[in-house]
Formats: sequence, structure tokens, C-alpha cells
Amino acid sequence: MSAIPSNLPLRNDLIGEEPYGAPQLDVPVCLNVNENPYAPNPDVCDDIARRVRDIAPTLNRYPDREHIALRRAFSDYLAKESDTRLAVDQLWAANGSNEIMLQIFQAFGGPGRKALGFAPTYSMYPEYARDTFTQWVTVPRNDDFTLNIERAVAAIGEVRPSIVLVTSPNNPTGTPLSMDETTQLLEACEQASVDGAADGVHPILVVDEAYVEFRTPGVPSAVTLIDKHPNIAVSRTMSKAFAFAGARVGYVAANKGIIDSLRIVRMPYHLSAVTQAAALAALEHTDEQLSTVAHLRQTREQTAAWLAQQTYKGAALTVAHSESNFVYFGVFDDRDFIFRSLLERGVLIRDVGPDGWLRVCMGTDDEMARFREAFSEVLRLAESR
Ligand SMILES: Cc1ncc(COP(=O)(O)O)c(C=O)c1O
Repeated sequence: MSAIPSNLPLRNDLIGEEPYGAPQLDVPVCLNVNENPYAPNPDVCDDIARRVRDIAPTLNRYPDREHIALRRAFSDYLAKESDTRLAVDQLWAANGSNEIMLQIFQAFGGPGRKALGFAPTYSMYPEYARDTFTQWVTVPRNDDFTLNIERAVAAIGEVRPSIVLVTSPNNPTGTPLSMDETTQLLEACEQASVDGAADGVHPILVVDEAYVEFRTPGVPSAVTLIDKHPNIAVSRTMSKAFAFAGARVGYVAANKGIIDSLRIVRMPYHLSAVTQAAALAALEHTDEQLSTVAHLRQTREQTAAWLAQQTYKGAALTVAHSESNFVYFGVFDDRDFIFRSLLERGVLIRDVGPDGWLRVCMGTDDEMARFREAFSEVLRLAESR
């Protein structure tokens, strides 16, 4: 609980609010924030340290505000990873995709504007909306967490949002969005108007691809749609598959008009020279940084299959189809008990989204073995309650 004295002039709408964040607990097995559990290898660490050492004598100066070298490196990365070559002015980076998303809300949201999302989804979205005085509107997903595309398309016309925000694969459920669905959303945006904006203005579609590298190989990314559609922005991050969460680097791919809009609201020199140097070094080692992704995909498939074989109070567990590095499973009539009992055994997972569901992020082989052992014990305990 935060203790903010009541005589401080905190914004009225923030009174009683708590800072957002998954618990950071000192436990042996942390499977709660969807990181890549495998550390960068020692050669990559040496190169990061070398790059940072190289720029240290320039730290009396402000960094490159436009971070051109880094945007060029993301262009190369997407050419390789998603088979799409974008220009430097179609790319933009920030301190995590959290900051990218906040900049999107700052530029395109605001008083009188609405953002539309599809619940359950990433729990930070309502916070970006709150912080920018944007109204957050959600349309429920289907029972299996896929998008109800007819309902989504209809809502774009009815709600008249300035931002339509869809996550693929979705967090916390792992659900992917097909290219066909993405195109339908985009076409609906291109037809729709925007409350609080002039005639002829259309919503932008933001596709949050934080976990996209974990998708089935060969499936296209939404970045392939950028050249044909001026109103799409694809948010990405180095925090997940790329094993670089501690450095705080996210980026967005979109047409120049969208990038230029973000440049209006960004803080001057928002991306430090140290961050830029570290990210450039890591991107030079893309193959090494992504070398564990195939194994994590395999771990996900094995974990999902194992969970589907477990029973809770006589019924088989339901496991949501995931294309990400986590698995969403349930349904528990007392998920708090399962969550706490796992924690007592040194395994931290996440209790987010609809009641009864839990999310476990893929760890190392050893961590997953400990998860399975603890979870089996907890299920037996639940049975005897
Ligand atoms: C769907 C989604 N988007 C964005 C983020 C933010 O990631 P970062 O700010 O580390 O890039 C997360 C983090 O968990 C996420 O799950």
C-alpha cells in the first residue's frame, strides 16, 4: 500500500490508486513476468560492456535524440525477422514498449478521445489511458479468448475510437491474431470516424507484438501490412524473446506520419546513450540472443500438454492455445489458494485476468521441473481440502 498524505494535491482521479507492477519477490523460481529465462552469453555481455565503455567519454553530451543508428539496426532486424524492409523514418524506439505505448496514447488519445481494446488483455492498457485522460473501452473476447471479429469490427464503427489496440499474441492468454483478422480490423479503422476529431480522420490500429518472435515459424507479422496501410502501428520489444528486459528497449514500426506524431510528444533525449549503445551491441548478436526461442516454444508445447493432463477437483484443466512464452490455464474455484501454495513452494506465477485462471511463463528446464513438481503437490492438496 502506498501512503500518500491526503493534504498533497494528487490528481483527484489518482487518489486511492496503487502503482502498477507484478510482485518482485525473492523466490527461487520466478515465472511471473514473461522474461526470457536464459541470460545473454558471455561474449554478448563483453560486447555490451565494450560498446558502453566506448561511449563513456561522450557522456557529458546529450545522446542522439533521433537514435538513428539504433533505428537502422531495427530496420535490419525486421528485414531478417519479418522479411520486411522499413526505412529509418518508419521506426522509433523508446524505454520499453511501455513507453512506446504511452507516447501513442499521448499523441493520439487525450480528453474526448477513446481507445478500444479486447478483454482480457494486457493490464497496463487502462493505465496508459488513465494517464492521458483517454477513455478506455473494451469488447469481450470469445470464451476461448479468440477475438470476436464481427463484434470487434462493429465496435470500431460504434465507439469511434482514435486508437484500436490489439495484442498478438495476447497477454495473458497467448492467443494469436490471424493476418485476416488484422486486415479486417484495419479495414474497419479505415472506414470509421473518430470522436473528438475532424471529419475524414480515422482510428489507428496498434498491434502490440511484444511476444511475436514466439509465434509459429513462417507466420507473417503485422509489420508486413505497413507499406499498404497508413494507419497501422506495430509495437515490439527487446524485453521478451530477445532476452533484454533489463535494458528497457521497445520500438514501433509504422508509417512516417505516425512516427512523426510520436516525435512531438517524446521527452527530449528520452533514450540514453548507454541504452542505445547496449541495444546496438545486443542487436549485433541477434542470432545468439534469439537462440533459445525455439527451445522455449518447445517448452511451451510440452508444458501446455502436461497441464492439459492434470485434473483439479475431478475435472481436466483447460489450457488456452498459446503462441507466446507463457501458458494460461484454469479454471480454479480458488485460484488464490493455488497461487499462494505455489509461492510457499518457491514458485511465483501470475494471477491475472478472469477469475479462476493463472498464467505461467516458460522458465529454464530446471525451473519448469520445479514448477511441475510444486504444482502436482498443490493439486493433491486442493483435492484433499
Ligand atoms: C503485451 C505486452 N506489451 C508490452 C509489454 C511491455 O514490455 P516492455 O515495456 O518491457 O517492452 C508487455 C510486458 O509484459 C506486454 O505483456
